[in-house]
Amino acid sequence: MAARPLNVGLIGLGTVGSQVADRMLSWGPQLSRRAGVELCLRKVLVREVSKRRTIEISNDVLTADPADVLDDPAIEVVIEVAGGDEPMRSYIERAIQAGKHVITANKVVMARHGPELLDQAAEKNVDVYFEAAVGGGIPLISTFRTDLQANRIEAVSAVINGTTTNYVLGRMASQGMTMADALREAQEAGYAEADPTDDIGGYDATYKLAILASIAYEIKVRPDDIYREGIEGIEPIDFRYARELGFAIKLIAHTQRHPGRIEARVHPAMVPLDHPLARVEGAENAVFVEGDLVAHVLLVGQGAGGRPTASAVVGDLIDLARSIRRGVQSRPSFSFDDRIGVIPIGEVKTRAYYRVRVADQPGVLAAIGQVFAEEGVSISSFIQKDAWSHDQTAELVVTTHPSLDASLQRARERMARLEPVHAVSSFLRVF
Ligand SMILES: NC(=O)c1ccc[n+]([C@@H]2O[C@H](COP(=O)([O-])OP(=O)(O)OC[C@H]3O[C@@H](n4cnc5c(N)ncnc54)[C@H](OP(=O)(O)O)[C@@H]3O)[C@@H](O)[C@H]2O)c1
Repeated sequence: MAARPLNVGLIGLGTVGSQVADRMLSWGPQLSRRAGVELCLRKVLVREVSKRRTIEISNDVLTADPADVLDDPAIEVVIEVAGGDEPMRSYIERAIQAGKHVITANKVVMARHGPELLDQAAEKNVDVYFEAAVGGGIPLISTFRTDLQANRIEAVSAVINGTTTNYVLGRMASQGMTMADALREAQEAGYAEADPTDDIGGYDATYKLAILASIAYEIKVRPDDIYREGIEGIEPIDFRYARELGFAIKLIAHTQRHPGRIEARVHPAMVPLDHPLARVEGAENAVFVEGDLVAHVLLVGQGAGGRPTASAVVGDLIDLARSIRRGVQSRPSFSFDDRIGVIPIGEVKTRAYYRVRVADQPGVLAAIGQVFAEEGVSISSFIQKDAWSHDQTAELVVTTHPSLDASLQRARERMARLEPVHAVSSFLRVF
């Protein structure tokens, strides 16, 4: 083993950071043996040094001054597990410019600025590892960077949202709860943030898909390039109808290769019950990768939580430490192609499910059928579900064959304007 230890600076000592520090402090000899070099936690940057911590850590190691980590020439690796865009983007850039390697769990920074930071790192001959930024403990980035590198990636489909969304959808499906009640329950149980917008609105999944698509295709995919819809509009009755039709409802992140362009979207979708993504529950995440050589690979595991995420962070550290000591980069660096864009959602082909509240009177089916025919959308099934005598309305469920998303949207708008249609209560894409 080399005599000189590898000094590490940690930024953040919260849910993830305390598990990273704990692993480094309590399992040092094992980690060092695997890394081939002694790993030394030299400084930990936090906001408030005097705060009570969940792990035992010497006060001398803690600091609230970023310079103690970023400007210390003895620190060769900076681990950022604090989160948010600024100041973390600047800290990571500063570390790279100072010739330090970086490991981060920060999906916001990597989704928005990843390609630039990786370019800067390549110029400075240092590496940026970010396994923990997507899918918590599931080895995704390393799988793309190493084991799948012989493949042309054709598609990636994932349930990769935070615990909140899966928990809420699960409770709505199994207990018939409304979204508001399921969300309140999730917050009381500590699964959901006080402000769940990032999860429920699909933003969290969009950040992660931007990173995955960028890595899978080596192109610059930004969160803003990705079509995004959250789960807000789904009602308990949709789960019942979905089950009857042989589907689960999940928030799906999907990207697919097309000639010269890619498809990238995040939205709730009906997933066939026999698809592996239909069975992902609670804090679990799953990523289904299709490659031209490998056919498909399914990666499943804990997508969040301090310990699973620390598993990814410390795994990155060992890998990085080994390559630093050998003086080689163990993983290929990226070169991002700028010319490949994302297909607008209207041009994407997909299937759809509509739930429509109509007046229970003759001629309604024909009027709706005509709208679909005029939009060139072929109907797969057309079922009358419940009927209510008190207001003489009925609920129709329509599913379609694959069509242009723009045509499906126009059919939705035109249907809503038909005189006997009270409301198009739900529109979901079918995966
Ligand atoms: N939690 C998860 O399950 C999970 C899973 C995957 C990825 N991640 C990612 O991991 C990162 C950390 O998440 P977390 O849940 O551990 O967050 P957290 O519990 O809120 O902890 C954040 C830590 O960062 C420190 N910090 C925040 N802003 C800082 C600043 N400007 N300067 C110095 N220190 C600062 C805080 O210091 P104080 O302690 O002094 O307040 C705290 O120790 C995020 O990027 C998150 O997206 C988290």
